[in-house]
Amino acid sequence: MRVPIIAGNWKMFKTVEEAIALVSELSKKVQDVEGVEIVVCPPFTALDAVNEVLNDSQIVTGAQNMFWAKEGAYTGEVSPVMIKNVGCKYVILGHSERREYFGETDETINKKIKSAFEHALIPILCVGEKLEQREAGLTEQVVRTQTEGALAGIPAGQVSQLVIAYEPVWAIGTGKTASDEDAQKVVAYIRKVIAELYEADTAQQVRILYGGSVKPENIAGLMKQPDIDGALVGGASLDAESFARIVRFKW
Ligand code: G3H
Repeated sequence: MRVPIIAGNWKMFKTVEEAIALVSELSKKVQDVEGVEIVVCPPFTALDAVNEVLNDSQIVTGAQNMFWAKEGAYTGEVSPVMIKNVGCKYVILGHSERREYFGETDETINKKIKSAFEHALIPILCVGEKLEQREAGLTEQVVRTQTEGALAGIPAGQVSQLVIAYEPVWAIGTGKTASDEDAQKVVAYIRKVIAELYEADTAQQVRILYGGSVKPENIAGLMKQPDIDGALVGGASLDAESFARIVRFKW
């Protein structure tokens, strides 16, 4: 059985003080929750402080990006060793905002995924189509290319631990969510692609999340879908009450 995940991607929000306040409140609100893995992904500057606060909590952390080298002359970058060292379990890789604004490609994302696994970090790989691609009927082709590119050369034993987030770009921060059925259809397709690349067993172990305007009001419908194993939440994860309501929906 796949353990569901609700992950919050804070993006470029929250100072250290604000981050501490948010996780302190959140950890109280979700302390009795069972059967779901709760992940928060603060900006790099707050990771250490947030991990300190969450020391005795069931909430775990992830970074929002990393470089693939373990150290070196790469001004402005953060390495997997550094992320691991502050206590992170996960790292979001290939988010559409990184592909769009920072030139990430399937090749660079593939290098980062390999490096994350080498350093015992679990990647949350983001894939998803833009609006014009959806309208041109290219959704399946786009998520296939992104998935195949990101996973090139990665062995089945690692892929089975992977988390994928299907995030249609047109649904991110727009208030437009994919319908439950549309999200299920694409997530099932991604699982089919993994089954083709590896084996059915591996595909059954990969946890696939939906992301894009997830809120307390729409989480239940998404989670009823057989292939959707959780959510990657942006805006609604910045407030302890709304994120806790997503985490606490009736499992
Ligand atoms: O990583 C999270 C996604 O980009 C979704 O963001 O919930 O604000 O639409 P959103």
